[in-house]
Amino acid sequence: MEIIVKDNAEQMSRVAARVVAKVLNAKPDAVLGLATGSTPLGLYKELVRMHKDEGLDFSQVTTFNLDEYVGLTKDHPQSYHYFMHENLFKHVNIPTQNVYIPSGTTDNYEAFCRWYEQEIVDSGGIDLQVLGIGGDGHIAFNEPSSSLGSRTRIKTLAKQTIDDNARFFDSAEQVPIYAITMGVGTILEARQCLVLANGRSKAAAVAAMIEGPVTSMITASALQLHPRTMAIIDRDAAGNLKMLEYYEWIQEKMVNAP
Ligand code: GLP
Repeated sequence: MEIIVKDNAEQMSRVAARVVAKVLNAKPDAVLGLATGSTPLGLYKELVRMHKDEGLDFSQVTTFNLDEYVGLTKDHPQSYHYFMHENLFKHVNIPTQNVYIPSGTTDNYEAFCRWYEQEIVDSGGIDLQVLGIGGDGHIAFNEPSSSLGSRTRIKTLAKQTIDDNARFFDSAEQVPIYAITMGVGTILEARQCLVLANGRSKAAAVAAMIEGPVTSMITASALQLHPRTMAIIDRDAAGNLKMLEYYEWIQEKMVNAP
């Protein structure tokens, strides 16, 4: 895993936006995998700025979001549909028909999940998957004990995730108990992964993801198996890393690497 440590979340977002822009410049019809949560907000803001100021073009881009709460309609302010529309899609020139987000209101989840996986394949596969990490080490909504070969499916949320995400709802009771999420296996098939984390509350999960054993108890640790994953984290989130000095040394020396 390539580990890039930045001083703060703003710098993290800026570097992440450059990674996304590089993919889009090389391949204007790239397929992006997108994440929600507070972590990628700065990245989306920067992408919107690049679209407006620098002409970053989304007209041929296709996106697949990682997950959605079961039971929330598209216009629910806490749904991931709403989040993506408000924070990215309505500000850039991406065609509506190129946007895929798991449905939280389908009447046939099994069929929907199969269809979603097939759409990813039919679109040519995900070129760059953006990820955050949950406090319990999850990616998307792949909670502890999720199979590392899992595909898009319904997951029951962990108590910690419900508590963590309760801040966005009026109370913990209002957080949905189920989510529809890409699987760890689905995510690992992306050609490139970009995982972001900031803040002290992510330090333990980040250390487990990067330096811990590969385990279904920390589904982000499965990214160690991916040949092309970049982690961009801020100094607070890097707080528990044992080999931090080495990662920074690599970044410094890489410039002159043969
Ligand atoms: C949710 C999402 C994850 C996200 C995580 C962290 O559980 N399903 O994709 O990474 O929250 O959220 P935040 O960035 O708000 O800490």
